[in-house]
Amino acid sequence: MSNPSILILPGDGIGPEVMAEVRKVISWFGEKRDLAFDVSEDLVGGCAYDKHGTPLHDDTMAKAQEVDAVLLGAVGGPKYDNLDFSVKPERGLLRLRKEMDLFSNLRPAQCFDALADFSSLKKDVVAGLDIMIIRELTSGIYFGEPRGIINEGNERVGINTQRYTESEIARVARSAFELARKRNNKVCSMEKANVMESGILWRDVVQEIHDAEYPDVELSHMYADNGAMQLVRAPKQFDVIVTDNLFGDILSDAAAMLTGSLGMLPSASLGAPMANGRPKALYEPVHGSAPDIAGQGKANPIACILSFAMALRYSFDQGDEATRLEDAIEAVLAQGARTADLLGNEGETPISTSEMGDAILKALDDSL
Ligand code: NAD
Ligand code: IPM
Ligand code: MN
Repeated sequence: MSNPSILILPGDGIGPEVMAEVRKVISWFGEKRDLAFDVSEDLVGGCAYDKHGTPLHDDTMAKAQEVDAVLLGAVGGPKYDNLDFSVKPERGLLRLRKEMDLFSNLRPAQCFDALADFSSLKKDVVAGLDIMIIRELTSGIYFGEPRGIINEGNERVGINTQRYTESEIARVARSAFELARKRNNKVCSMEKANVMESGILWRDVVQEIHDAEYPDVELSHMYADNGAMQLVRAPKQFDVIVTDNLFGDILSDAAAMLTGSLGMLPSASLGAPMANGRPKALYEPVHGSAPDIAGQGKANPIACILSFAMALRYSFDQGDEATRLEDAIEAVLAQGARTADLLGNEGETPISTSEMGDAILKALDDSL
């Protein structure tokens, strides 16, 4: 049987820097755990625009549809800020999500013990935190029509439309309930049913799916603005949070800070099962291309490496090896290894992106 296939799309800014560390980790699993992957690489984002005049070439899109998993670094940067909207780097990423139909975006926020002191919140608020935000990723205001900037009278009007069908809500709700059953069996659904009709429908459908198919799971509903407040007040009250595309984007950045740094937060974007039974899948860190630190060897590669751990778990049925990798990262942090984003006090010396990668490889060796 051939090896499972992975398409790597490093992207822009710190994307290639953190992805270089992931490649080392992938090679380690091939050499030391007999888990070999067929890895290919391509362009997405600004770098694809520079070469092809589009942030995602059709050939790259086709490859992404064929492989067992896609790993993406990050896209975007100031160089591309003034491009026409239709060819902006971010459009490449949104096209991948939409055409692969990756409706369920898993964004875990876990606080590693070694970083509990580092969070901007009090240690007892975040120590031991382990929550999962499930963000709907292929619909809502990101994709709804009508959209655009039009002229009305003597001024311009910017338009985006929040639109959700019942089936779109139902499928992401099911993925939240399924995941909750493997965790602490609790789902909190967030919307703004007090001001948005799409929020009313969201709440109704989540409740209906719950009552009909998952009555054993504890379900609560919360307005998303209160949810943002509760996430920083008492995040450990949550197990699984399920929410729409835009609220999920914002709430997951807030949750990132609970873990210490945006450089720590991985994600998995999952769609329907393919013919081989694996879900369509794309794995990427939650952070962006960090233009302020790009090219300086300062980026924290952990979010991207943890995204590969999610690939091991959700695409390749290697939960034990995913745990091995997560434990190696935990061990490295416990030994005090810190990239610049994880340093609090002046006078401490950060390690570089590649030194962090090497430290994780060493901890992986120690795990054997
Ligand atoms: P960003 O996530 O790139 O950066 C926000 C802050 O976090 C910066 O100070 C950055 O230095 C820091 N940071 C982020 N990742 C880090 C890491 N791994 N290690 C250390 N520090 C890290 O968000 P932004 O500045 O709002 O966006 C920059 C560009 O990235 C924009 O073009 C945006 O559209 C794009 N973006 C892309 C993605 C993606 O590809 N998935 C996600 C978010 C933003
Ligand atoms: C994310 C990013 C993207 C989003 C952008 C870059 C399109 O912020 O993955 O969180 O808004 O979804
Ligand atoms: Mn975001």
